[in-house]
Amino acid sequence: MQRRIFLNGSMDINGNTARLANLVRDLEYVPIHLSEFHINQIRPEYDQQQDDFKKVMNQLILADDIVIGTPVYWSSMSGYLKTFIDRFADVLDAPLSGKRVYLLVQGTAPEDAIPYITNVIRHICRRFHMKYMGLATNSSEAFKLHDLIVNEK
Ligand SMILES: Cc1cc2nc3c(=O)[nH]c(=O)nc-3n(C[C@H](O)[C@H](O)[C@H](O)COP(=O)(O)O)c2cc1C
Repeated sequence: MQRRIFLNGSMDINGNTARLANLVRDLEYVPIHLSEFHINQIRPEYDQQQDDFKKVMNQLILADDIVIGTPVYWSSMSGYLKTFIDRFADVLDAPLSGKRVYLLVQGTAPEDAIPYITNVIRHICRRFHMKYMGLATNSSEAFKLHDLIVNEK
């Protein structure tokens, strides 16, 4: 049984990003809405941080497929997602190797943001030896990602 999680970077847990994820998802799918967790900005004294970062990271470590969704805010990924990703620097030896990563980007005119957001996600995939599987920005691409996930069993 594959463990799949949806890491939602939107402020709206029932918004367009979550709706797009619903088209991708399969049965055993756990949503993690970053807006519901308290995750601090990166700090020099990283091991002292009392927040939810490790709780969320542990969910990623348990997953086989990680669907990362973000709305576009001012031509960028959401701050929720960027704050979380910055904190990966606190756990450079996290056992994420081999996990499959799928990216969802939602925006009214997301074209300018897509290369940047994709580049960041590809960067963390390379650094943590995860496998970047692809991007969906609309429903037809989301259905293709769904097929990709199901066929990757
Ligand atoms: C603060 C803010 C900034 C935004 N900036 C952009 C933008 O630069 N480009 C874009 O395509 N959409 C932008 N949008 C629109 C959202 O990306 C879009 O409504 C998205 O579908 C919201 O997803 P959600 O419902 O999951 O929050 C912005 C929305 C907000 C709230």
